Amino acid sequence: MNTPFFSLTNSRRMHRRTFLAATSSLAAAALWSSRALANVVTAPKFSGYPFTLGVASGDPTATGVVLWTRLAPKPLEDGGMPPDDIEVSWQVAEDEAMTKIAAKGTTIANPEWAHSVHVEVEGLRPDRWYWYQFKAGSEVSPKGRTRTMPASDSLPERLRFAVASCQHFEAGFFTAYEHMAREGFDLVVHLGDYIYEGKAQENRTRRHLGGATVTLADYRLRHALYRTDLALQAMHAAAPWIVTWDDHEVENNYAAEHSERKVVRTEAALKRRAAAYKAYYEHMPLRRAALPKGPDMQLYRQLMFGRLANFQVLDTRQYRDVQPCGGGRKPQCPDALSPDRTLLGTGQRQWLFDSLGASSATWNILAQQVMMARVDRAYDEGEAFVMDQWPGYEADRRRVLKFLHERKVANPVVLTGDIHSNWANELIADFDDLDSRSVATEIVGTSISSGGDGREKPNDLDQLQSENPFVKFHSTERGYVSCEVTPKSWKSDFRAVEYVTRRGAPLLTRASFVVEAGQPKLQRA
Ligand SMILES: [Fe+2]
Repeated sequence: MNTPFFSLTNSRRMHRRTFLAATSSLAAAALWSSRALANVVTAPKFSGYPFTLGVASGDPTATGVVLWTRLAPKPLEDGGMPPDDIEVSWQVAEDEAMTKIAAKGTTIANPEWAHSVHVEVEGLRPDRWYWYQFKAGSEVSPKGRTRTMPASDSLPERLRFAVASCQHFEAGFFTAYEHMAREGFDLVVHLGDYIYEGKAQENRTRRHLGGATVTLADYRLRHALYRTDLALQAMHAAAPWIVTWDDHEVENNYAAEHSERKVVRTEAALKRRAAAYKAYYEHMPLRRAALPKGPDMQLYRQLMFGRLANFQVLDTRQYRDVQPCGGGRKPQCPDALSPDRTLLGTGQRQWLFDSLGASSATWNILAQQVMMARVDRAYDEGEAFVMDQWPGYEADRRRVLKFLHERKVANPVVLTGDIHSNWANELIADFDDLDSRSVATEIVGTSISSGGDGREKPNDLDQLQSENPFVKFHSTERGYVSCEVTPKSWKSDFRAVEYVTRRGAPLLTRASFVVEAGQPKLQRA
């Protein structure tokens, strides 16, 4: 790459906001590092190209964005870095050729955080695209493209974003990201299962390295393996991401300090969680507000796309009570209905209600993990609900829908991942009265690859929909959801790839639904 990095011409253009950005970045480095800055290596020599994991950006505001990279010349061998603090330069430009520099600075990549880099750029202009790049020693990173949010008091004409989740590396190729990159989205919202924790298995499309992830080194290696996927890298470099996790970033169906395996003691479960959360932070474009502290990490937060859309990003794993009734699929037992049990945790729930109560956005998005609709999967007699999902925490489910309804929260849309299938649901006020009015809509986005090659029409579709008439669409193919949001309407296109066990699947659109502002009903488009 022959970009003139930090040329004299560029330096002269440096203005006050650039200087401020650089200063705050250094302060951040000092905060993260227990070492003295005097020990920083400013002219490192690497054992190979250090930017093997690409670049990423995320959590944009109207004036800034987080830029991410990680120095890892040998990404699948503990990174291949010496145990030194390394100076990394960064710059943000208004043009792809990186000639009109808008901000620049230096930061420190240190071994305590796997030589990851998180720069919180400030002083950018609202609602515009930028390009960015890192440099360490004489090595220059690939360029990334990112954007700021529109000004908080503006009403943008349009937001286009993709909803992704569940990318099991062994289950298939990330072809969906290749198609997603061509759509020119403003944002990507990733709803979790960014990695899977299982040990390497035989006879899959691709192979994990090593055993099930338990230690920090294990989780770092797993994240690095996933991030070597070029389609994933390219999508990170194409737009800012808003990420949250689900269970597999730690362990299948974990709940707060409880492992799915009852023999695992709390202490061991929290130790594993601390390792998993740290590696997650190290590999995601997240702000310092999310910096993990031992086994705790605050991921719930709000992001605003002007007055058009508010994203309330939720974490339904860290604070939940254990799954009721022994988990699985079953009728709601007394525990599932208990008002003392929670999916969100009281702190997050209060934050959500405060945040929604204060919102003046046209669309209020809950970006979260598990399905909120109370879908009955027993088609003859009796009932069966998935205890890992909101119906296992019925009191919290009702509290949220009641709040949306009674407080007249404008146009609530719930975005869900987790279950490797597409659903378009109307969230009705009372699931015991199927004629009750719809309070919100729920778009469940399918997996990028988890589950392998899927089916357009599941065998039980007709029974499912006759038992649950609020389910307007369901399919189990791989893909993502493309959302186009305007002040008047929200269109969701369910994009599909027919196979992921081979490369090159073309992109299909299986269904499109429109929700008109003021009317939480799904209409086929
Ligand atoms: Fe998943």
